[in-house]
Amino acid sequence: MIDMTGKTLLVTGGGGGIGAACVRLAVELGGKVVLHDVRAGGAGEKLAQELGADKVRFVAADLSDGANVPKLWQEALAFQGRLDVLVNNAGIYEPADVSYDFAKWEKAWHRTLEICLVAPGHLCREAIDSFIPQGGGIIVNIASRAGFRGDDPDYMHYAAAKGGVVAMTRTIARGYGKQGITCFAVAPGFVNTALNKGFFDQYGIQGAADTIPLGEVAEPIDVARTVMFLASGHAKHATGTTVHINGASYVH
Ligand SMILES: NC(=O)c1ccc[n+]([C@@H]2O[C@H](COP(=O)([O-])OP(=O)(O)OC[C@H]3O[C@@H](n4cnc5c(N)ncnc54)[C@H](O)[C@@H]3O)[C@@H](O)[C@H]2O)c1
Repeated sequence: MIDMTGKTLLVTGGGGGIGAACVRLAVELGGKVVLHDVRAGGAGEKLAQELGADKVRFVAADLSDGANVPKLWQEALAFQGRLDVLVNNAGIYEPADVSYDFAKWEKAWHRTLEICLVAPGHLCREAIDSFIPQGGGIIVNIASRAGFRGDDPDYMHYAAAKGGVVAMTRTIARGYGKQGITCFAVAPGFVNTALNKGFFDQYGIQGAADTIPLGEVAEPIDVARTVMFLASGHAKHATGTTVHINGASYVH
């Protein structure tokens, strides 16, 4: 049912757990991918090499500085001359505890907001600018359960950023539907990726699974399948919505 032939996607954070699953699935479904990651020489570039230069182009950009976004978009456009889908996936999960001194606290807030909200916003701007003249395009923003339910106290900045991603998604869907642009959010709960290393090291993966009615942590492919469904265009009339992938740990 899902065929990405003829579509080119930009997947940010494409070397990470969820991003890599999205890249692999997009290629498997016939699409071409610009695989972005923070730096060259890591898992992202290696995956791009494995999948082949005719299907995947690697582009590096540090999204902690939003000024890197316009160049990233131009490099991504250059691969196939157009982009059909933006998957805003790159993210970090770094604590900011109220016990931190102010300078450390403020730095953590800015870094999380920059990578998880501001850079995705800049990328949405670039996408809208390119999608309007070409008659449309699809944006899939990776949010989080935290953006709805809230998170632990030392991740209030992360929850705030992800809540912002949801509000941004809804606004884009409302504002640009008539120009053929659809925009979705995907909100995972616990996913088996390096992002949760701290939690898994402390409580084990079973510790996370125990908090989930489904009894297991989602795998990156569980998120990637939903992302590709949304990116395929089959869910056009669901624009503006969020798909929750959390094993009923927070039913919204
Ligand atoms: N894993 C989960 O449980 C979970 C839950 C909810 C939401 N999410 C979201 O899913 C997305 C993907 O996370 P993941 O679990 O695959 O994590 P991950 O750590 O495996 O991957 C994150 C990716 O983002 C990239 N990245 C980090 N800092 C960057 C920077 N400064 N500039 C550019 N890229 C940068 C990393 O290099 C990596 O490729 C994130 O937005 C995350 O917030 C994850």
